[in-house]
Amino acid sequence: MKIIDMNLKNNPYKVYIESGILDKACDYISSIYNKKNIYIITDNHVANIYLDRLIKILSAKYIVKSVIVPEGESSKSFNEYVNVLTKLLDLNMRRNEMLVALGGGVIGDLTGFVASTIYRGCPYVQIPTSLLAQMDSSIGGKTGIDFAERKNIIGAFKQPSLVLIDPYVLDSLENRQFSNGMAELIKHGIIGNASLFNKLLRKPCIDEDIISESLSVKQDAVLKDEFDTGERMRLNFGHTFGHVVELEKNLLHGEAVALGMLMALRFGEDLGITPKDIYPQVKSILESYNLPVEEIDYKKYLLKTLGDKKNLAGTVNFILIDKLGSSVIYPLTEDKIKEIINGR
Ligand SMILES: NC(=O)c1ccc[n+]([C@@H]2O[C@H](COP(=O)([O-])OP(=O)(O)OC[C@H]3O[C@@H](n4cnc5c(N)ncnc54)[C@H](O)[C@@H]3O)[C@@H](O)[C@H]2O)c1
Ligand SMILES: [Zn+2]
Repeated sequence: MKIIDMNLKNNPYKVYIESGILDKACDYISSIYNKKNIYIITDNHVANIYLDRLIKILSAKYIVKSVIVPEGESSKSFNEYVNVLTKLLDLNMRRNEMLVALGGGVIGDLTGFVASTIYRGCPYVQIPTSLLAQMDSSIGGKTGIDFAERKNIIGAFKQPSLVLIDPYVLDSLENRQFSNGMAELIKHGIIGNASLFNKLLRKPCIDEDIISESLSVKQDAVLKDEFDTGERMRLNFGHTFGHVVELEKNLLHGEAVALGMLMALRFGEDLGITPKDIYPQVKSILESYNLPVEEIDYKKYLLKTLGDKKNLAGTVNFILIDKLGSSVIYPLTEDKIKEIINGR
């Protein structure tokens, strides 16, 4: 078992990573929560595979109720948010009762947002079941929904009270969804842990050790900068370009990040920051996990990066790689970006 300590000043919590931990969820949750009722939120796909099992496990100590939403990004919507609130209130949920997010990043983000607002806030546990959620979205406390065709545009910082990661549940994940999560794992190696990156070159089994090494990179960034105003931006490596291609092509988030990382590496090379031997290694790992690796001219997308919601008025913070396992934050003004595009 591996434990990641999210030692945040106002919201400390622990992340337990253990094969088979799903079956012990009741013990872990009861160590932090002693009311009678508990509410699981999940999607229809994950519900088919894991909901009955989790209800049975938690029934040892709790009265368990559940809310099921349709699978997919479209559930990160106002409609579904209102639907979940309505169902929780119909189920007589009371102040300070616990929610459990059982599912991928969609369920984690939606449940977290509900938890940040219902009764002005209630505790919630993350049980991430997709690799992307285990690798990324279940820790760090960013929650939210999409609105007006913009992703994650309405939300809140709301840290979970506990995160339980069971690598066994990845067995039921479809291959494309597995690769989707691998992109964030590879990203963590590139920006913060060269030895993890080198391990990935050998295509290891994704076990407790690898998950915890990868999550440690995110932990480090979140502990330094819970509210994403500085250090945490490093996690955006590949995302500035990635978000633009994600909108244009019909790609999963991790697939777009894979392309975005390659674009950011070329950008770094041209600026004299990124050594040229990194690109082929990254490309080879991405390829080995069936992620897209086509070369896209980053200059064509530079202007569009100005539309990214993470950009502060007129400046884009690019995350570039100066050596494997290390990144630099590289702010560029709108004028400078236009100069680069025009080859000046
Ligand atoms: N909050 C954050 O910090 C953060 C970070 C990264 C991404 N995100 C968000 O996460 C979302 C993407 O997450 P995702 O890729 O997990 O999507 P998702 O939640 O839609 O899950 C992907 C698919 O996998 C299925 N699934 C999940 N676990 C499964 C399992 N164990 N077995 C079989 N099928 C399973 C789901 O039903 C779904 O169909 C996006 O909305 C993104 O914005 C949030
Ligand atoms: Zn991401």
